Amino acid sequence: MWLTVSEYLDKINKDSVKYFDFNDRILQITPDIIPLNFSLLFNNENPVKLEIGFGNGDSLIRLALRYPGFNFFGIDRKMDRVRTALSKLNKRERIPNLIIARLGTDYIEQIFSPSSFAEIIMNFPDPWPKKRHNKNRTVSTDFLPQLHRMLDTDGCFRFASDHPEYSLEVSDLLSGSDLFSNCYDTPYLHSVENRIETQFEKHKKREGWDIYYMKYRKK
Ligand SMILES: C[S@@+](CC[C@H](N)C(=O)[O-])C[C@H]1O[C@@H](n2cnc3c(N)ncnc32)[C@H](O)[C@@H]1O
Repeated sequence: MWLTVSEYLDKINKDSVKYFDFNDRILQITPDIIPLNFSLLFNNENPVKLEIGFGNGDSLIRLALRYPGFNFFGIDRKMDRVRTALSKLNKRERIPNLIIARLGTDYIEQIFSPSSFAEIIMNFPDPWPKKRHNKNRTVSTDFLPQLHRMLDTDGCFRFASDHPEYSLEVSDLLSGSDLFSNCYDTPYLHSVENRIETQFEKHKKREGWDIYYMKYRKK
């Protein structure tokens, strides 16, 4: 990470500037509001769930509508994904328990306070399948302490992926960590009842891939 958090935020906000002016669904994260205060942002004390990499935003919108007692904060680092999700949000009435932002995970230590989230969700994160690109995977040994720090007491991390090798790597990392305990009886499941499927999930299931679902609780 070559930039300071302020330089990073300036950089990503420059591309997004036209979306901030008239929009109450997307948050412009600026240095003066970090670490983020979710009670202020949502104007209530409800527990917050973070989705990292919401993609087209469909499943995040459906989650927020299904669970109004939780606040949902979605981040995605790619501007085109943020634009797609925002255009979906703009076509409907404002959902009071949902805010999205353009953000990657590189500076989360400065942006999110400890114990901010009741749940952190990662659905189908980029698997970076080539060996020489594996280092770009978001979930790694270094990322687990970050997840642990951001989760509140008894908070959970949910992970889903179609990529067998990345999934097994994450499963080994989580099950071998002192920071988390498995909520399932097996290292992962291939189906989860009552789940809201994401765009990638539907697509990968149609192609016949097994999906690896994991749920780990903060110790
Ligand atoms: C393969 S897509 C899956 C999208 C969606 N979760 C789904 O299941 O349909 C991965 C998404 O995660 C985003 N992403 C990957 N790594 C990220 C990171 N470290 N921080 C924020 N977003 C990330 C990408 O921009 C992309 O939109």
